[in-house]
Amino acid sequence: MAEHVGYHEPLDELSNAVRERHRAIVSLMEELEAIDWYDQRVDATADESLRAVLAHNRDEEREHAAMTLEWLRRNDPGGKWDQVLRTYLFTEAPITEVEAEAEAEERSGAGGAPAPGAAPGDLTRSPAR
Ligand SMILES: [Fe+2]
Repeated sequence: MAEHVGYHEPLDELSNAVRERHRAIVSLMEELEAIDWYDQRVDATADESLRAVLAHNRDEEREHAAMTLEWLRRNDPGGKWDQVLRTYLFTEAPITEVEAEAEAEERSGAGGAPAPGAAPGDLTRSPAR
């Protein structure tokens, strides 16, 4: 049954919050898959006007994916999504070095991630944005 697709624990043992996050995660997966499919079709088509339509549609899926990811960030009780997205997104250093950089900043107490309790959207750490 479709309602059970993707669940790995008995439904009656899952909270509503986990079920809602599951919906969002599955939706995000679908948006990312759609982006990939459109991307391939944009690349493969020989028709310029079809390429424009497909590229437009792909970019709308990017917006959908971003909106869903933001919902997940806002509905993550542990705040880990918020923490890792603030650490990695919109950075300039090589991605594999971002974590070490963030940890070093944390240790030195200078700069670093926004102070605990900082309002969402507090960009004090990312002046390059
Ligand atoms: Fe979409």
